[in-house]
Amino acid sequence: MDVAYSLFAGALVTLLLLLVLTRLSFIIREACAWITWCVDVKYIRSLPSPPKAKRWIVGHMLELGPREHSLQYVQKNHKEFPKYCVYWLGPLLFEVITGDVETMRRLLLRPGDPKPTVYGFLHKWIGDGLLTTSGAKWRRHRKMLTPAFHFDILKQYIPVYNEVSHKLVEIWSGLADSGESVEITEYLHSYTLDVLLRCMYSSNSNCLEKKDGMDYLKAVKQLTDLFMARATNPLHIFDWIYFNTTAGRQFLHYSDVVHKFSESIIVQRREELLKTSKSAKKHLDFLDILLSAKDENGEGLTDTEIREEVDTFMFEGHDTTASGLSWVLYCLAMYKEHQEMCRKEIREALAGRDYITWEDLSKLSYTTMCIKESLRLYPPVPYIGKQLSEDMIIDGDRIPKGTWITLCIIVMHRDPLVWDNAEKFDPTRFNADNLKKRDPFTYLPFSAGPRNCIGQHFAMDELRVAVAHVLNKFHLEVDKEHNVERYAVAVLNAQAGIKLTLSLV
Ligand code: HEM
Repeated sequence: MDVAYSLFAGALVTLLLLLVLTRLSFIIREACAWITWCVDVKYIRSLPSPPKAKRWIVGHMLELGPREHSLQYVQKNHKEFPKYCVYWLGPLLFEVITGDVETMRRLLLRPGDPKPTVYGFLHKWIGDGLLTTSGAKWRRHRKMLTPAFHFDILKQYIPVYNEVSHKLVEIWSGLADSGESVEITEYLHSYTLDVLLRCMYSSNSNCLEKKDGMDYLKAVKQLTDLFMARATNPLHIFDWIYFNTTAGRQFLHYSDVVHKFSESIIVQRREELLKTSKSAKKHLDFLDILLSAKDENGEGLTDTEIREEVDTFMFEGHDTTASGLSWVLYCLAMYKEHQEMCRKEIREALAGRDYITWEDLSKLSYTTMCIKESLRLYPPVPYIGKQLSEDMIIDGDRIPKGTWITLCIIVMHRDPLVWDNAEKFDPTRFNADNLKKRDPFTYLPFSAGPRNCIGQHFAMDELRVAVAHVLNKFHLEVDKEHNVERYAVAVLNAQAGIKLTLSLV
């Protein structure tokens, strides 16, 4: 017995020793990183930062968040610290926020910086897809997926934009002239989800009439709110804490709802493929490209990679566009002289037709200028995050490797140093002459550089067709009783939605 015991104890000690030895380099590395971090934190305290009185423990956490007052707070600080400033999320965690064009240009053109930890908070939902991944994997996927956004592919989607716009206009016609205002954002989320499912996954969905995808849309709303709450709570940075909280469990639950929905789209598609021949399908879609894409070694995407990209594009492709469309219609309802000019242009292009062709899009130049101006004032993606892969000098200060940096598009787009009369809705900023003079890095609704938005042409076409159909049919007016405030989660929403009065033209 004693011998057996000694053997057992000896084996256990050897095992423990082996474990410590093999993990030793890891332990030393982590300890060094921790010491460097603490030294850096001391140094970071000397950098420009908005006053936070004596709130050493909570830092700026009470001021930051998705609501209008937080957006104004960051905008105000940008005036005082135009290059960058440091915000504290508790005593040890910080992020740098910048709305400076030069700094943003340098950051967007730096190839090696990964996405910061907050993008990882999306992992259980959209996995490690194109939006969240970095390095070699990102380069491989971007190259494989870019053909899905070639003009020849995008052209085929025009009938879908028309068809779904007709449905939207039909539903809104039933609500027009009642004198009651209509909350438009919910309809527009169903609209953009329907467009996306039909174009990219050849689904025969009907989100507007049959309310397909309603559970998905509700889940996405919850997930973006939960994401934002997590991003401003340093205690929730660690998965092992977060997923043991109520919020974390809710995040897992809604991620599950979203996955079931995307699964159903893939299953539906597989069944249809079995029934119909490939040539009978209306167009080559994103799923076809995902399934058949090969890298230079002839390797395709794995099932997990396909699933992650489906979830990524499902979210990125509908939520941003719904936000963009909501704010464009809001701006046109606010500024009626521009609404009238768009309508005139649209009616001339359509010449009595009720269908917008690919060729018509190039005739909608004033409408396009209004869409661009609205994306300036209300950028659907208000912030972009980066994590420095090496130290960076900003305004003479060393910002250490590992720092999270937020590029504040929403602040730069309203910066009076960048835009004359920045708060004014003025579409002529985007006429051909002014565009030639403009530095492209001063206008970033779709970001810029290698990690710009892969779906930007898809989105712009969809927006133009939808706006043309809506203005061709309705006069838009804002409901003055309803307060519209910005609410910046992963995308820029209106906190209590947007209410417009619609009257038939
Ligand atoms: C008005 C609509 C849209 C806006 C304003 C917008 C804006 C943006 C922005 C600012 C980024 C950079 C995000 C970052 O670096 O964190 C981005 C990336 C991305 N967008 Fe869009 N987007 C829109 C529509 C779309 C659509 C329709 C799709 C797909 C069908 C799409 C797919 C993506 C993807 C996959 C990425 C990641 C690209 C990469 O990192 O390589 N977006 N978008």
